[in-house]
Amino acid sequence: TKTLGTVVSDITNPFFPQLIRGAEDAALERGYLLMTLNTDDHVDREQRALSLLRARKVDGIMLVMAPDSQDASHILATQASGTPVVCLDRVAEGTPLDSVCVDNVKGARMCMHHLLARGHRRIGMLSGSVGLQTALQRLIGYQEVMRESGGDVDERLIRHGDFRLESGYRLTKEMLLEPEAPTAIFASNAMMGFGALKAMRELGVRCPEDVSLAVFDDIPFGDVMQPRLTVVAQPAYEMGRRGAQLLIARIEHEDIPPEPMRIELTPELIVRESTAARPR
Ligand code: RIB
Repeated sequence: TKTLGTVVSDITNPFFPQLIRGAEDAALERGYLLMTLNTDDHVDREQRALSLLRARKVDGIMLVMAPDSQDASHILATQASGTPVVCLDRVAEGTPLDSVCVDNVKGARMCMHHLLARGHRRIGMLSGSVGLQTALQRLIGYQEVMRESGGDVDERLIRHGDFRLESGYRLTKEMLLEPEAPTAIFASNAMMGFGALKAMRELGVRCPEDVSLAVFDDIPFGDVMQPRLTVVAQPAYEMGRRGAQLLIARIEHEDIPPEPMRIELTPELIVRESTAARPR
């Protein structure tokens, strides 16, 4: 059918349109169209998306896995039925699936070293749901750097959100109202970072004068917001592009190694205005 399926968490999250755009540009170069579905990070919706796409006889699927999809049996069944699957952004560890992702631990480590270099020691972590591999890896990067810098990890500074704005807002309010509030916050994605800014504004906390903020995910307006956001930028467009190219190579049986390929892209720290020296 010269159609590819793309299954993402939530197209209203600005990370995913960049990824879809890269996939579509690469697909159109080879005469393929995209059909996109959202899972809202629910495995049952993921399973339904895969069966809908198979019913529509797409030639292949790019999948951003929902949490707890680590039981990838429904994904492997799709692949076994003759519809190749390439995982984007999140990788089903230990399963024979092609993937294109980012080195999330490296990205989180770069961000944490930047905050430590600005003198911060009490750094709050707004984590995504740890059922998501990207959230888990960013948390690992946070914990590793905190331990290596001689500070022990204060569990009260780690709050588990769901990658959505509301959780970032709620958890930031909780953290900033505690005694010994953090002087900096690292948000595991941009949407929770926006929630953090909303909470700061509501509490009359200035960013970065009172509390610094760094987020994972660059988004088109990160450079326009007040304050301009310090981010760990993911090559989302490139991820989508490389994913579509790899999927089409599988569909058209191009001469590539049969064993699953794991392409890991490199994140970039972009320092702007939302991180400053720790207040005296
Ligand atoms: O913002 C959504 C997050 O989910 C992004 O950071 C992306 O990496 C995905 O895991």
